[in-house]
Formats: sequence, C-alpha cells, structure tokens
Amino acid sequence: KHTVGLVGWRGMVGSVLMQRMREEKDFDLIDPVFFSTSQTGQAGPDIGKDISLLQDANDIESLKKMDVIITCQGGDYTKAIYPQLRNAGWKGYWIDAASSLRMDKDAIIVLDPVNQKVIQQGLKDGVKTFVGGNCTVSLMLLGLGGLFEKGHIEWMTSMTYQAASGGGARHMRELINQMGLLHGSVASELADPASAILEIDRKVAEQMRSSSMPVDQFGVPLAGSLIPYIDSQLENGQSREEWKAQAETNKILGNTGAPIPVDGLCVRIGAMRCHSQAFTIKLNKDIPVADIEGILAQHNDWVNVVPNDKEATMKGLTPTVATGTLNVPVGRIRKLNMGPEYISAFSVGDQLLWGAAEPLRRMLRILLE
Ligand code: HSE
Repeated sequence: KHTVGLVGWRGMVGSVLMQRMREEKDFDLIDPVFFSTSQTGQAGPDIGKDISLLQDANDIESLKKMDVIITCQGGDYTKAIYPQLRNAGWKGYWIDAASSLRMDKDAIIVLDPVNQKVIQQGLKDGVKTFVGGNCTVSLMLLGLGGLFEKGHIEWMTSMTYQAASGGGARHMRELINQMGLLHGSVASELADPASAILEIDRKVAEQMRSSSMPVDQFGVPLAGSLIPYIDSQLENGQSREEWKAQAETNKILGNTGAPIPVDGLCVRIGAMRCHSQAFTIKLNKDIPVADIEGILAQHNDWVNVVPNDKEATMKGLTPTVATGTLNVPVGRIRKLNMGPEYISAFSVGDQLLWGAAEPLRRMLRILLE
C-alpha cells in the first residue's frame, strides 16, 4: 500500500476532500499519515481505522517518507516546503490544491474526465507533480468538455458569478453576517405588509454603506451587491482570475499549438459555494443545438444538460440545486443573434467539489491503479 501524507486536511477544501475520501473508501486503499503545522503529536481524524499521531508538516525528513503527499494547506506552504522536499531528493508524488505550481512546466493540472490522456502521458514521462485547476476553469471544462474534445470551440468568453467560498471560509461567514445585518435593519418594517417599500430600500442601502457593515474579508459589501473583481490586478487589465481561464484551459487540454482564446470578466456574487458562468461560444461550424446537447451530455458522468426551457432552468440550473453535489448542470444553450456559429450556455457547479477537492482524490486513485 502507498503511504500517503495528508496536509491541510482540516481547512475548508481539506474537509471536503476528507469527506469525499471517506465516502469513496479511499482510506481502505492507502496507509494515510496525517500532518499538521500546529498540532504535532496530537490524535489525527477519525477515518474508521487506526492511524499514527499527527506529524509535523514542516519536517522534511517525515515528509520524505511518503510515497504521495496531498496538500490543501495553501500556496504559502507549497512555496516553502515543495522546493526543500525536491531538493532533498524526494521522488514521491505531490498532489496539490494550491495554484503556486500550476503553470510549472514540470506539473500537470489534473481534471481526469477531461485530460485523462494528458495525465497518463505525464505519468509515463515521469511527471510527479499534479495540481488541481482553478475552480471556474475546472467547472467550465467539466460542463463544456464535449465541445472541447471534439475540437468545436474556436474561442469563448466566460462571464462568471462566483460564490463566497472561493475566497475562503471566513468569506462565507461574512456574507451571511452581511445578509443578517441587512435583514435586521428592516425587520420590523418587513413584518408590516403596509410599510413603504422605498423606505425599506433606503434603510437597506444606508446599512450597506454604513461603517457597521462587516467587510474585513471582501473589502466591500457583497450581500445585496456584487464585486466585479476577483484576485489581484494584472498590468494588462485582466484580473488574475480572468487570466487563468485561457492559461489553465489550454494547459489542462494539453494544447501545445495556438491557444484557444478564453476570456471574460470574473464577478463575485452572494452565492455560498457554487460558481456559475455564462458563456458565449464561437463554434468553428454551424452545429444544431440538439447535437451540441448530445455532445455535451455524453462527455462525462457529471455534466447534466438542462433543456433551454424556463421551468427546467429554474428547477435544475441554480446554485441551490447544484450545491453539495458533483453534478454540473449546463443549460441555456441556444443560437445567438450574431450567427449560427455563436451559442450561449450557462453552467453551475460546486467549487469545493469538482472545483477543488474531487480532482485531487481522483488523481490519488489513478496513482493506485
Ligand atoms: N479563485 C477562486 C475564487 C477560487 O476566488 O472564487 C479558487 O479557485
């Protein structure tokens, strides 16, 4: 059995990973060793079998004994530990949720329903570093994988509606606190059906602009509003989140020729953990909508094509239905006025599952095959 070190399993992505590994009985197939940056020597998590006490996540000698290390500890940990470990001669497999190593030429971005061939070729070539993709990119590729696989996409835009969880656990808490404060500011007026709506609106806006709004995480109110900027600012006018779309998409697909252009604006909205995206896709030929739906639906087990119908969309294409599941509904597929080669589509997906944890545990499974 492979000895697998787990680092950062207590955080939000790590906890989702642990939950999925328990559900899929991954722990039965490995000898897990749990690491901690702060609680060395304490008891590890309950995984239904005996495990050793927590080891020091900063101790290179302990880490070196692992055949595989899976980390959800974050980019700073990766930047500090990974080079030391490799320099110390460690030849094991490093599976990482953080973005630090993603564009490294020696690393593969893992999303096996989409790039199984790239992963298998990498393993043959001796690649030892596998990194989960950006959440919007992974969810986009899972939803639209069929069209990419068939080579039908000339270019596309993705306009995103990204959930609070992409910022982290504290961001989710802040969003709900903001929502609560807004409600609280007008609770008595709301209880009275005869109260004036414009007065309610005025009070809500006043609360949103007041210094009592908790904005430590997001910087500005998200509840009742939105934030059309995610991650850091680049010199070319893109945000880093927007830059990732094309860079990671083409890397995941193993596209070594001219990159498929993918670009758009990334927007934070007040959803909890589902990222949604509206796409404009330029196909390289006129394909009937029914054929497009078939191509998308057949690509993998998780994509779920929702007919472009109001009732079906409202029932099947929202964060409310997708949250906490591995399903990636894709709908609103129709031809646009620009011409028969232009289509729209809309996808929703849980950014902690396919967007973060799931590709990592599946990469572990590939190593165990
Ligand atoms: N950067 C993403 C977001 C999450 O802020 O929503 C991680 O991929």
